[in-house]
Amino acid sequence: MKAVRADGKRNNPVSFLRENGCEGPQRFRRRPLEPANVKVVAMKHYKVGYLIGSLAKGSINRKLAGALIKLAPENLDFTEIPFAELPLYSYDYDADYPPVARAFKDAIKAVDALLFVTPEYNRSIPGGLKNAIDWASRPYGTNSFTHKPSAVIGTSPGAIGTAVAQQSLRSVLSFCNAPQMSAPEAYIQFTPGLIDEQGKVTVESTETFLRNYMKEFHDHIERVLTVLPNDA
Ligand code: FNR
Repeated sequence: MKAVRADGKRNNPVSFLRENGCEGPQRFRRRPLEPANVKVVAMKHYKVGYLIGSLAKGSINRKLAGALIKLAPENLDFTEIPFAELPLYSYDYDADYPPVARAFKDAIKAVDALLFVTPEYNRSIPGGLKNAIDWASRPYGTNSFTHKPSAVIGTSPGAIGTAVAQQSLRSVLSFCNAPQMSAPEAYIQFTPGLIDEQGKVTVESTETFLRNYMKEFHDHIERVLTVLPNDA
């Protein structure tokens, strides 16, 4: 329903304000974009720790990790979190964690997010990676993964590209309360030359897909940390 003035004139917000003692329209003009009016907001950087499931020197998953880092948004800063030196976990260690295990937990605590790049061994994740996750999840009450944004990806020469291992890892991370990026999923079949010596992905469609994967990972980190700020 239209508001009608008692004097019959048409409603005009500017003349109404003038008639009622307010300033003219210049008061409502946007201020020009002069340097003094422009606030430069620095892009927030996030620290991402990445774990490579393979211990092999020539690991194709290590190659994939290198390529992903190159394709990632520039405000993601990457550090590898190695785990090869960890002994096999037992809860006998809980009363007094060895320095190597403390350092591993501290490294996870120090990052904002985690990226798991893993091969598939016998339709699951390699034992070394599972052992490392067990170390970080304990002692009881000090789970290092709590609320840590995470993503999983992997490559194998086989056509399913680590799909089964990733499902297994997702189940573990779910129990460990690490909020995972659910999509996109990335099952990368490794073919000879897919990633060159410089870490460049040589197939354009795969490169585009992986670049988008890393952008989505960035957005996932931002979303999770907006709701669950990192108190590390
Ligand atoms: C494999 N490989 C393998 N590949 C796969 O797609 N599904 C599987 O279940 C397995 N299982 C498996 C078990 C073991 C013990 C080994 C050593 C290998 C093959 C595997 O994908 C291939 O070796 C990759 O090169 C492993 O990745 P990294 O270690 O090179 O990064």
